[in-house]
Amino acid sequence: MAPPETSPDLARRARELRAEIVRHEYLYHVLDRPEITDAAYDALLRELRLLEEEHPELVVADSPTQRVGATPVSDLPSVRHEVPLLSLENAYSGAEVRAWLDRVADRLGGTLPAVVCELKIDGLSVTLLYRDGVLVQAATRGDGTTGEDVTPNVRTIRSVPLRLPGAGAPADVNVPSLLEVRGEVYFGRKAFAALNARREEEGEPLFANPRNAAAGSLRLLDSRITAGRRLSAFLYSVARWEGDRAPSTQEEALQALERLGFPVNPHRSRVEGAEAIEAFLEAWRERRHALDFETDGVVLKVDPVDLQLRLGATAKFPRWALAYKFPPEEATTRVTAIAVQVGRTGVLTPVAEFEPVLLAGTTVRRATLHNYEDLARKDVRVGDTVAVEKGGDVIPKVTRVLLERRPAAAAPFEMPALCPACGEAVVREEGEVAVRCVNSSCPAQVKESIRHFVARRAMDVEGLGDERIEQLLAEGILTDVASIYALDAARLSPLPRWGEKSAANVLAEVERSKEAGLARLLFALGIRHVGEKTGKVLARRFGTIDALKGADGETLQAVPEIGPETARSIRDWFSRPANERLLSKLAASGVRMIEAEGSPVPGAALSGSTFVLTGTLARRTRDEAAAAIERAGGKVSSSVSRKTTAVIAGSDPGSKLDKARALGVAVWSEEDLDRALGDAP
Ligand code: IVH
Repeated sequence: MAPPETSPDLARRARELRAEIVRHEYLYHVLDRPEITDAAYDALLRELRLLEEEHPELVVADSPTQRVGATPVSDLPSVRHEVPLLSLENAYSGAEVRAWLDRVADRLGGTLPAVVCELKIDGLSVTLLYRDGVLVQAATRGDGTTGEDVTPNVRTIRSVPLRLPGAGAPADVNVPSLLEVRGEVYFGRKAFAALNARREEEGEPLFANPRNAAAGSLRLLDSRITAGRRLSAFLYSVARWEGDRAPSTQEEALQALERLGFPVNPHRSRVEGAEAIEAFLEAWRERRHALDFETDGVVLKVDPVDLQLRLGATAKFPRWALAYKFPPEEATTRVTAIAVQVGRTGVLTPVAEFEPVLLAGTTVRRATLHNYEDLARKDVRVGDTVAVEKGGDVIPKVTRVLLERRPAAAAPFEMPALCPACGEAVVREEGEVAVRCVNSSCPAQVKESIRHFVARRAMDVEGLGDERIEQLLAEGILTDVASIYALDAARLSPLPRWGEKSAANVLAEVERSKEAGLARLLFALGIRHVGEKTGKVLARRFGTIDALKGADGETLQAVPEIGPETARSIRDWFSRPANERLLSKLAASGVRMIEAEGSPVPGAALSGSTFVLTGTLARRTRDEAAAAIERAGGKVSSSVSRKTTAVIAGSDPGSKLDKARALGVAVWSEEDLDRALGDAP
């Protein structure tokens, strides 16, 4: 085939269109000052799309048409951060802010530096890498050392430039050869409301808040879905800048980012002195509600970069920055009922239902009262007016009763003597706050245990949501956890809202779940005190369910993570005949009861030892090293103390190495670790 021939006119038109579109996107998404109508913008985009369809050789990677998302991936690849993403120390009051300022001044020889006050955006942090002005990688924070590659997803965010300088840049703007910038991806309030409205129409579960929506959208495996969600971003720091004129202050960095075309939050102030800082905090406590995005506080940053470097960082936080959190929001409402829910382990939880009230931007209708003791202490009664608070969390809390508004007839709430789900008598064990239903075939418990069993982090059976579980319980098709493995197409397909395809999908998922492995199975069984992590620890140590079942209390407690309570609970679980029957049924269905990855370690070579990792290891990531140590029975801690067995230092070790030396703790190389693990190269 002859090479494509494009007339120079068409190539020029494509360039013009791209520049025009990028400019309008910048005006709209970054400056919030559109100059043309949406329809006019769409017409430009359509023209470019047509042109590119007819002349694919004109398509470039940073064309605005390329923000549509890419082919889905099966997993988000991990990315090691060259510069770790630290978190911030929190302050909750003016006094804590002043104490931080005093500490900063002390460390700098008595003078307080200028501080930049920025709004703390409530989203998900990301780091973006530009090489020669081209966006080449975007990653989430992850654990601070290793994050997830979300490049295709971030490319769909209109305000994030695909190439630097972005639109609106002055002619003399300086583009560094390498730039790593950090910021926050978030959902605007309006975009969030629109997203949830659409999901409601489509019968999809709603997102609890904008932050969850941002996190969920950014971490999708299919970036084409991300492209349909209106994510936004603000960039707030430069992590690496290679090239001329590197900014020497935080304010300069923000201005440089603005000039390069990045969205930078304009609501900030470079101030000097504690009073000016407090005035900023005070002003935004109220004003923030008028913004189109959620902010949960103010980040204070020492302005001059040289002073930031002098202040340095602890293992977790930079000493030159602080996050002040706004006080939680409170509202008052009236309690209309106190309902009692029965959980997976039979615990009865009282829940206050109240007149809907607007709190921190969302309508709340109920709040957990945790347990009877908590309820009795607060003495919440039906008819009471209560104060409801929402902290950083999604779940609101009842903080107190406004006694002066209590109706004369309001009677103290009594926990029911019978389980509201099955009618059997409930018990309250000595020394326990929980009231529970001990009938293991109580329908509420069965339902909750099935929900837990199929959950994503447990056996991960997709397609068995709450509604279907309820339906199958009502039909008598599901009776306990093991009955999942007896499901068959002939019974499922004819049910309302099923059909052959859904049935086949769910059955394939059920089949797949048999291979989930011991760690997930142990978590899925819902043994008290055996969470996801303990499930993994037990699977690694014992390898098979029979070995675990045979372990006595002493053997269990010899596992570093297992305390007496967990050991007792495990023994207790295996001693119950009903559970024995359940395990036999699961085994007969072909559920795998041995651990796939990481064979059990009989002698647990590092048992009783605690290690701290610092610096970059040559042959494994820190997570991999930690996993290897744990598999061999050792523990990994984040801070060095006299009890630390050894600090394992890679290249560029941090302050942990100094601390180890100061405390006389052994320092090992990666090779020392290999030897201890018994797999010397
Ligand atoms: S600076 C070393 N600035 O808050 C400094 N963080 O609680 C790193 N955040 O993980 C962070 N707005 O995700 C900074 N203007 C802002 C921020 C901000 C939101 C987030 C960020 C960080 C978290 C710490």
